[in-house]
Amino acid sequence: MTYEAAADIGIGERASIAKSAVLERSAVIDLEAVRHNVRQFVAIASPAAVMAVVKADAYGHGAVQVARAALDAGAAWLGVAHISEALALRAAGIDAPLLAWLHTHESNFQAAVAAGIDVGISGWELDAVVAAAREQERPARVHLKVDTGLGRNGCTIADWDQLLGQAMDYQDQGLLRVVGIFSHLAVADEPHRPETDEQLAVFREAIAMAEDAGVDTEVRHIANTPATLSRPDSHFDLVRVGLGVYGLSPFEGATSAELGLHPAMTVRTLLSNCKKVPEGQGVSYGLNYRTSEESTLGLVPLGYADGVPRIGTGGPVRVNGVNYPVVGRIAMDQMVIDLGPLTPEAAAELRGAEAVMFGDGSDHGPTADDWAAAAGTNNYEIVTRISQRVPRSYVNEVPAQPASPAGVAAEAKAGAL
Ligand SMILES: Cc1ncc(COP(=O)(O)O)c(C=O)c1O
Repeated sequence: MTYEAAADIGIGERASIAKSAVLERSAVIDLEAVRHNVRQFVAIASPAAVMAVVKADAYGHGAVQVARAALDAGAAWLGVAHISEALALRAAGIDAPLLAWLHTHESNFQAAVAAGIDVGISGWELDAVVAAAREQERPARVHLKVDTGLGRNGCTIADWDQLLGQAMDYQDQGLLRVVGIFSHLAVADEPHRPETDEQLAVFREAIAMAEDAGVDTEVRHIANTPATLSRPDSHFDLVRVGLGVYGLSPFEGATSAELGLHPAMTVRTLLSNCKKVPEGQGVSYGLNYRTSEESTLGLVPLGYADGVPRIGTGGPVRVNGVNYPVVGRIAMDQMVIDLGPLTPEAAAELRGAEAVMFGDGSDHGPTADDWAAAAGTNNYEIVTRISQRVPRSYVNEVPAQPASPAGVAAEAKAGAL
């Protein structure tokens, strides 16, 4: 269809095209799973509040939908990396407290101040944010970030006193309000490592220095998902939870289920083709795989343009209740599974069958963790990289009756490490 013809089609036809695209291939996001996970973290973190981290389009799940579900379930804050991501949430009508922490000289601090977006400050941003506050005639809301050991963003402890002094000067002039002090952990997903203790000690020192400088913050925050689960002493006033909101485990030795979390994303499609082939049939570019006997090949219409890692050969795809490893190279649009010897009738029947790349893992179905293992990466990357070529669809958009707070608390504590 040409672009002109596409522009001519009516709303009904467009809806039916969108519906068939979703039926063909989709990332289905269960918003009740998101709400469940957030309720777990609210219970675990209490009395600290929860910031749902919805950067990178909510790790691929859809920032606006996840943000609304997370707020429904008790998250008090939202967090993103970029001001542009925060502005998109404000444009969708979301007015919850919202922090953006990663900037460049081209970041739109004016828009952030105008939209009441909190801005993370490592040092150099302070003057630019104050200039924006002057322009907007409105005090900026800032969270001062200290580098406690991660070596990325944040002010070094050596420069911290100076940053505190500058920020307090500006606060005294009514140009900003120091809302928070924060930092980020490097190895909380490996709870046995000593560096988390060292980072927490530096963070406590930074807080003490801030108090000495007269800073009176609303929130001090350093914990991510793994720290929230494994280090109650890292909770302070607020925890910033990303991965856990999506129901995924940050720990190598623990599944989502063991942590009481529900994975929210299922990537599914339909088998495009299913055909009998002889022994020795080569599969996909490079012919790196050959059938060891007469067999049946299933063609899965998902490839690296959809976000499947090209290196992930061997990752599982579930058809008819069985997990089959992907064989041969993963291509831009497609990948292949070897279904073994089937009758021609059985093969024909499987054409159009549902194929699940990963989901919540119930009934031993494939998970984002399985794909992370196949691709030598982590589950963060697997869900985040599912591209916009795969339409998102949402289930359970409307909240169910909330569970009793006591029940949620007991379940959450049982799931925590
Ligand atoms: C500054 C900051 N805080 C919190 C998070 C959330 O981390 P996690 O997804 O492990 O909860 C991230 C994500 O990388 C982050 O960059």
